Amino acid sequence: MAQIIPVATFDGVVFGATGDLTLRKLMPALYRRWRDAQMPHDSRVIAAARTAIAPEAYRAKVFEALRAHLPAEETAGDDARLFCERLSYFALDGTSGEGWEALARLLAEAPERVRVFYLATAPDLYGPICRNLHAFGLVSPQARVVLEKPIGHDLASARAINDEVGKIFAERQTFRIDHFLGKETVQNLMALRFANAIFERLWTADVVDHVQITVAESVGVEGRAGYYDRAGALRDMLQNHLLQLLCLLAMEPPVSLDADAVRDEKLKILRALRPIAPHETSQLTVRGQYTQGAIGGRAVPGYATELGHPSRTETFVALKAEIRSWRWAGVPFYLRTGKRLPRKVSEVVVQFRSVPFSLFPREAAELQPNKLIVRLQPDEGMHLALMTKDPGPGGLRLRPARLDISFEQAFGTRYPDAYERLLMDSVRGNTTLFMRRDEVEAAWAWVEPILRGWTESSEAPRPYSSGSWGPTAAIALVEREGRTWHEEWEDAASSLEPGS
Ligand code: BG6
Repeated sequence: MAQIIPVATFDGVVFGATGDLTLRKLMPALYRRWRDAQMPHDSRVIAAARTAIAPEAYRAKVFEALRAHLPAEETAGDDARLFCERLSYFALDGTSGEGWEALARLLAEAPERVRVFYLATAPDLYGPICRNLHAFGLVSPQARVVLEKPIGHDLASARAINDEVGKIFAERQTFRIDHFLGKETVQNLMALRFANAIFERLWTADVVDHVQITVAESVGVEGRAGYYDRAGALRDMLQNHLLQLLCLLAMEPPVSLDADAVRDEKLKILRALRPIAPHETSQLTVRGQYTQGAIGGRAVPGYATELGHPSRTETFVALKAEIRSWRWAGVPFYLRTGKRLPRKVSEVVVQFRSVPFSLFPREAAELQPNKLIVRLQPDEGMHLALMTKDPGPGGLRLRPARLDISFEQAFGTRYPDAYERLLMDSVRGNTTLFMRRDEVEAAWAWVEPILRGWTESSEAPRPYSSGSWGPTAAIALVEREGRTWHEEWEDAASSLEPGS
């Protein structure tokens, strides 16, 4: 078990405290860090939201949320109750000054402390909340602001938010969350690439045929239809999570692990992406929307039925990206993500080129190219697909085999939730796993022409049955280039999400 190094005592204020993210992710993450004594016990967690409820009622809500979202053994004793007793709650309005004085009085009791203002609200409140933090004198030198994604819904709105927040908080105090960066297995991509000599030498267009990044979910929009229908899969997942994965896979080795050294390299990849012009979207992208179907043997309704009206929002997107650089020229990066797919799985596949010439007769077996597959979630692990000799007599016949490592079996440890790591990093002031302003804006700049192409197109998203791997056009996107999506998932039954 790794040693837990406590962070400094801090005051954490969560805005949007009655929302789904706070109750499902932030409070359970804080509870776990508190329980492990990484978060000093005199730290304060202060909840703030518009709803006027009594602090006791709020504590009861959090207590229920901890029990609902954590394994029973983690909330069985007295700890969950003790944690909740420490929470304070302020009803305040992010846009007006109402209710802020009481919060200011509480924070003034410990002016030297690290203050983390976590904005788990709609992004249009980021500016007004930051203005109020400033107006009430709460932005101490030790203050940081944490912003949840999405930062805006296009480049202009992202810039406007960054400008507003930037008037109050310096970049080093600004923590833009992409929670995928907090996942252990995503950080492991850096370890894989830069702590092993063998991969880096193979990481080039000379050796790599193409790369696939799949982030599949079996859940639907889960009560977030209001937000989701305005966002869609491209904004909700691809602009941030999938592009960040692509950056970590494709970037040059940074000169150090310093936040800016890593982020400089990621930014170069975002800037090297070949733009997909609006008129190219029908060739290079596929968007889909789920219809009714079955997942894990259970019938599920279509997106429009869940929403209650027809919609042109995509719940699936697949696209072909290219990086204009010496290392990657000519190597396609196929990205796909969607809801109501057969199972929850996030995987990266690096497929290497075929052998230049086969010594083996065709009857010996079809030679399959090597693949490095990194399973990010669930069943975290890696495998390398190889060709080997089929054991036994009868000549030199071949068969595919795998070098496998399951992280759970190898390390036998619980993987902390991404938010546990990210929350503690924000207290430490370490921005490495957070998105810098220019990264967010470069990602929007690349995504925007695709959105424009879709808006200008008369075509609606292609329907796909819930429980399938998306529209057939997504299969055609890679097959017409002589490739196939990697779909040899095992352990299918174990990878359904709770809500699916
Ligand atoms: C969020 C998206 O950022 O990531 C959700 O808004 C999505 O739509 C979620 O379900 C997936 O995260 P995870 O950690 O469950 O893979």
